[in-house]
Amino acid sequence: MRTEALTAEPVSEFAAEVRAGLLHAGQKELPSKYLYDDVGSALFEVISVLPEYGLTRADERLLRRHAKDVVSQLPPSLVVAELGSGSGKKTRWILEALARQQRTYYCPIEISAKALAMCHRELGDLERISIVGFERQYLDGLLEVAARREPGEHLLVLFLGSTIGNFDHPAGIEFLKQVRGILVPHDALLLGTDLEKPIPQLASAYDDPLGVTAAFNLNLLARINRELDADFDLGQFEHVARFNPHTSSMEMHLRSKRAQIVSVVGAGFSVRFHPGETIWTETSHKYSHPEILQLAMASGFRCQAQWVDEDWPFAENLFVAV
Ligand code: AVJ
Repeated sequence: MRTEALTAEPVSEFAAEVRAGLLHAGQKELPSKYLYDDVGSALFEVISVLPEYGLTRADERLLRRHAKDVVSQLPPSLVVAELGSGSGKKTRWILEALARQQRTYYCPIEISAKALAMCHRELGDLERISIVGFERQYLDGLLEVAARREPGEHLLVLFLGSTIGNFDHPAGIEFLKQVRGILVPHDALLLGTDLEKPIPQLASAYDDPLGVTAAFNLNLLARINRELDADFDLGQFEHVARFNPHTSSMEMHLRSKRAQIVSVVGAGFSVRFHPGETIWTETSHKYSHPEILQLAMASGFRCQAQWVDEDWPFAENLFVAV
């Protein structure tokens, strides 16, 4: 079974969101999901192997070490849906553990076509795993997967890599409530959450000395230039990563080095920047243990199990729909 490749979002929606975010009174912002075009996704793959950025490796270690244990806690007859699979590399362990027990459908849901293709290449060799990719927004994709389930089949939703942290805490709860709304009791959600850690460690993870994260962030402006015929001068903006103690989040911004006016022809507007003014491009929330339990409870799940990495504080949480 293969799905037709529908584009995740029409260009006009990108234009509308860029326009709204940049013409916003007060703090300018751009949605972080737009960081992941083909270039951005490739840059993120590089970030994930940087020595300063331990998050992805922690996630991978936990999945590798505990896949059997995770799978042993799940109901039989499962469809696996992954929100934002990326290359699918770290999902291999879970799928292998499942395939030892049963033939399994794996449905990666991705807005990047390249990432989906990589996922097929990476995991296509797994026996007893059938891959059905969805080039969709998370909830649209999940609705489709849920609609295709057979009676008695349960869903395991994977939301790994602390992507949940890109929502602030209230929005994270709201999002998980929406996920829960698509599920039935005993369906499961395996949720990766980056945990609180010392600020200097976070600072070098989000502003690495090679400048890969800076490139990842600046690519958002390059993307707007490419796709919306804008004239951002990338040399006149700089990457900023800072910890916000009030929200316990790392924030990425793009700071204008001088007063400037940028036109975004494809979205029909221009925008003025003051010297030092920033565009807020990403939130990466760092969780505490009580917060994770609260997240589960507030969104209609029970946290059934948790695995924590010792080297890079990160937790894999098995939430079960109640
Ligand atoms: C993929 C969302 C988990 O928040 O750490 C990496 C993205 N941003 N470096 C994160 C990211 C800057 C990453 N997530």
